[in-house]
Amino acid sequence: TLASADSSEEFVDCLSKESKIPSWLVHTTSSSSYTSILKSSIRNPKFLNTTASAEPVCIVTPSETSHIQAAVVCGRRHGLRVRVRSGGHDYEGLSYRAEDRGERFAVVDLSGMRSVSVDAASGTAWVQSGATLGELYHAVWRHDPRLGFQAGVCPTVGVGGHFSGGGFGMLQRKYGLAVDHVVNATLVDARGDLLDRDSMGEDLFWAIRGGGGESFGIVVSWHIKLAPVPPIVTVFDIVRSPDHGAIDILTKWQEIAPKLPDDIMVRVIIEPQNVNFEAMYLGTCDELLPLMHLRFPDLAMNRTDCNEMTWIESIPYIHLGRNATVDDILNRTSISRVNTKNRSDYVRDPIPNHIWKKIFAMSQQVTKFGEFQMYMDPYGGKISSIHESATPFPHREGVLYNIQYITYWQGEANGTEALKWSRDLYEFMEPYVSKNPREAYVNYRDLELGRNKLVDGISSYDSGKAWGKRYFRDNFERLAKVKAKVDPDDYFRNEQSIPPLLN
Ligand code: FDA
Repeated sequence: TLASADSSEEFVDCLSKESKIPSWLVHTTSSSSYTSILKSSIRNPKFLNTTASAEPVCIVTPSETSHIQAAVVCGRRHGLRVRVRSGGHDYEGLSYRAEDRGERFAVVDLSGMRSVSVDAASGTAWVQSGATLGELYHAVWRHDPRLGFQAGVCPTVGVGGHFSGGGFGMLQRKYGLAVDHVVNATLVDARGDLLDRDSMGEDLFWAIRGGGGESFGIVVSWHIKLAPVPPIVTVFDIVRSPDHGAIDILTKWQEIAPKLPDDIMVRVIIEPQNVNFEAMYLGTCDELLPLMHLRFPDLAMNRTDCNEMTWIESIPYIHLGRNATVDDILNRTSISRVNTKNRSDYVRDPIPNHIWKKIFAMSQQVTKFGEFQMYMDPYGGKISSIHESATPFPHREGVLYNIQYITYWQGEANGTEALKWSRDLYEFMEPYVSKNPREAYVNYRDLELGRNKLVDGISSYDSGKAWGKRYFRDNFERLAKVKAKVDPDDYFRNEQSIPPLLN
């Protein structure tokens, strides 16, 4: 049922009674701080000024776990749902907006809860969900430069949403996903109780490590096992144009990159004019050169391509550019100025050379109304060696690489032409990517795959299958059973949260 206007006032009242939340941590639509807090981590400008969706009636910015518990207890008591936001990078903005304009909800924004406490002796850390990946990497490095962590490439991404959906980056072939290294977590459940791994039990602990954000509760903090990194890593970015053999090299890359040693990740970024082969190797240029000449001679890599640096320096270098400094990864506010639509695919069989030529021809059309990039991250190594039911993230053995399609445009938020083009490309790709189901990565959230439908006020399992099987394959059913156990009333929900499989 929808909450009434009164219920949001009662909710705010309840917050201060329940946990003595200071008033400056509660921002209603009439507070002067409301708009700046709401916009503070909206990454996609198409969601900044749109009347097409509902905004929260209230934003709570907790500084203590008891504030989060109070938000859930009061939300339930007064019929107001909460959505949780950590870094705000959700591609569909589901952490702070609802598609149904009639929906009334509050947002719990965790950006004030972002401590990272590293125990270098045991090689572990506790990180709160509101930290960014940049803050996590920086804190680990400051404690011990021999340690790192395997998660996403972009430093502003929030730990809370990222870990909830899996989390991969340039260390994925060596160490797998972020959630493959989560050993404990604390979570506020749908009753407002605070649980850890022991008290939540193994089913729920399994579900929160990749089953997608929002569905099971609010994860407050994560206990992670850190990974050793060598004193020197080597990064290269080799650009080839289609007129100079790029498509032939790319066709070969599909089978070579997933079989290279785990210490090297060569990803590909396709743009209308170029193919970029971007790599990180856990070692020196002297070690890398003979390996590349032997295993991937077509790339014709040479010594001048090598950029040696420390692992922590590679983070700003790869995402922010060669002049960025290590401290730049602490900047939480690098908001994109262009609208984007992001979609994803998984490839299990190499795409033929003549199809790549067609993809390039199609990508030329984009320049009439925007821009396009296609990121392709090779699997193999650790990420593929873990069983597909070990965590909810099922894209493991047999995956050659993941594709992320990004269509960019300026101007009108709807981006009618850009969206049509992105749909046409997605349709064109269908015969060449994974099938039954056509897989997708939950952290690259895409509402075009489907939305939950409510039956008797509860998200229905049948409607969820349309997108759920694509994100989770056979793990979707287990996720829906865990949801039925821990949140049968479907309190934590959004357009693509896990529906409870009742009975
Ligand atoms: P946000 O706060 O929007 O949350 C995302 C979802 O998780 C929402 O449904 C939200 O309700 C839920 N949620 C958030 N905090 C939660 C919590 N504490 N408990 C429970 N649920 C919670 N991915 C990747 O794997 N590798 C990469 O390199 C990148 N790079 C990248 C770059 C850029 C610029 C963007 C915009 C996105 C990526 N991503 C990515 C995708 C990213 O991993 C994904 O969008 C994450 O969900 C973002 O997490 P945030 O906390 O920032 O988002």
